[in-house]
Amino acid sequence: FNVPKPVNEPVKSYAPGSPERIELQQTLKEFRSQLVDVPMYIGSDEVRTGIKKSMSPPHDHKHLLGFFHEGDASHVEQAINAALGAKEAWESMEWEQRAAIFLKAADLLAGPYRAKINAATMLGQSKNAFQAEIDAACEFIDFLRFNVQYMSEIYAQQPPVSGAGVWNRLEQRPLEGFVFALTPFNFTAIAGNLPTAPAMMGNTVVWKPAYTQIYSANVLMQVFKEAGVPDGVINLVFVDGPTAGKIIFNHPDFAGIHFTGSTGVFQNIWKTIGENIFKYKSYPRIVGETGGKDFVLAHKSAHAKAVAVGLSRGAFEYQGQKCSAASRAYIPSNIWPDVKKYLLEDLASMSMGPTEDFTNFINAVIDEKSFDKISKYIDNAKNAEGVEIIAGGHHDKSKGYFIQPTVILTKDPMYTTMCEEIFGPVLTIYVYHEEHFEEALELVDQTSPYALTGAVFSQDRYAIELATKKLRNAAGNFYINDKPTGAVVGQQPFGGARASGTNDKAGSMINLLRWVSPRTIKETF
Ligand code: SER
Repeated sequence: FNVPKPVNEPVKSYAPGSPERIELQQTLKEFRSQLVDVPMYIGSDEVRTGIKKSMSPPHDHKHLLGFFHEGDASHVEQAINAALGAKEAWESMEWEQRAAIFLKAADLLAGPYRAKINAATMLGQSKNAFQAEIDAACEFIDFLRFNVQYMSEIYAQQPPVSGAGVWNRLEQRPLEGFVFALTPFNFTAIAGNLPTAPAMMGNTVVWKPAYTQIYSANVLMQVFKEAGVPDGVINLVFVDGPTAGKIIFNHPDFAGIHFTGSTGVFQNIWKTIGENIFKYKSYPRIVGETGGKDFVLAHKSAHAKAVAVGLSRGAFEYQGQKCSAASRAYIPSNIWPDVKKYLLEDLASMSMGPTEDFTNFINAVIDEKSFDKISKYIDNAKNAEGVEIIAGGHHDKSKGYFIQPTVILTKDPMYTTMCEEIFGPVLTIYVYHEEHFEEALELVDQTSPYALTGAVFSQDRYAIELATKKLRNAAGNFYINDKPTGAVVGQQPFGGARASGTNDKAGSMINLLRWVSPRTIKETF
């Protein structure tokens, strides 16, 4: 194929004294001392409504990073019109030209914008330097480069068979209308991928980010502009969900949604689209990644240390706010004493504090609403019967939204925190009798409606085979002897089924194919 073969962007170490750490520290300092004024980007306009909403680091909520300008229904309409207006020129551009723009965006992120996008993610979303690097820099760069590869493969697909005197062709057209990208706070890479994947395939997009990710979305928008994404192709609006939804889902040219967020919101969107189905020119594409209640299951043959590391990393990286984070664990009684010992040791070594201090592994949760919700689960567990908090449990929002990594041990495998999505640094563990692996498998499969990620630890091949079979539908990303987080683009295509989403694997050809609507052409000579 005619594009550079993608390789995963190497992860920088940010070791003390390294040039990348020095640059990142300087950028953090600069960003903290400035007040940004973030407009909406609609067509060629930077729109400042004067309705200013403040932005602060979740770990230092009294410090002001700047403001963004909130819009209303009229801005959503303008964004749709800008997207529709830009469509013809964009979709008729040769795909190589579009590819070049996104490859350039990847290079900008790998080079001059790397410190900026990482610093913005560290300050705006309270992600530590190492977690920011694997997300905002590497994962998004990989999304762009690998998607360009998949795009080239889609356009180079073998044509259908043609008989004598006939030429059959398949034309990969973009969708007719505009695409809506509704993006989450927890991964800058996902926020970037949701608008760019449809745009790559010739669609134009209205992008509404989570308010808590606008600080880094603004940097992404600068990258897109500098890379040459034409005006109107990606329009960034800051409007509350119901207002945006009312305009978008009633529009005849609504062609698809690329979503990552909560199951409840996605299900409501789906329902609304269903109710409005007669209004649309085409059946809209509905692509979404939603909730999770991701599991770790250990077999009696598992290595205790590997399980403990899988739990501490899998559950507590980025304060448990990855959709892939381990939040319920099933550990056999024979290895539990060792798993507990290693897990508590590991947790004791994790310090908590602002992201600007690179020694802090744990930072703040995203906002007050989230803090209150997570704290309530912890406080309820303090008083519940048959439940014990064996690590953490403390929370304090006086300076930032800090919640200690918390481990709950339960005698009841159906205890609330084993079943409900918490989206925070809370791991619940159920210790099962070491001979009851099959029952544990049943519990893993039946406890939650979700099926995003999950991990099985075992040194016994029969147990691995059994788990792989029985849990076939329990996780879209299934890990054997590794933590359930940290899927790498091009290596572990990411997505879940059941209540976790439509499983259109982010950063894969499956996903890109959702953004085209093929036309079959038969020409007879
Ligand atoms: N790639 C992330 C992970 O696997 C989720 O988007 O943790």
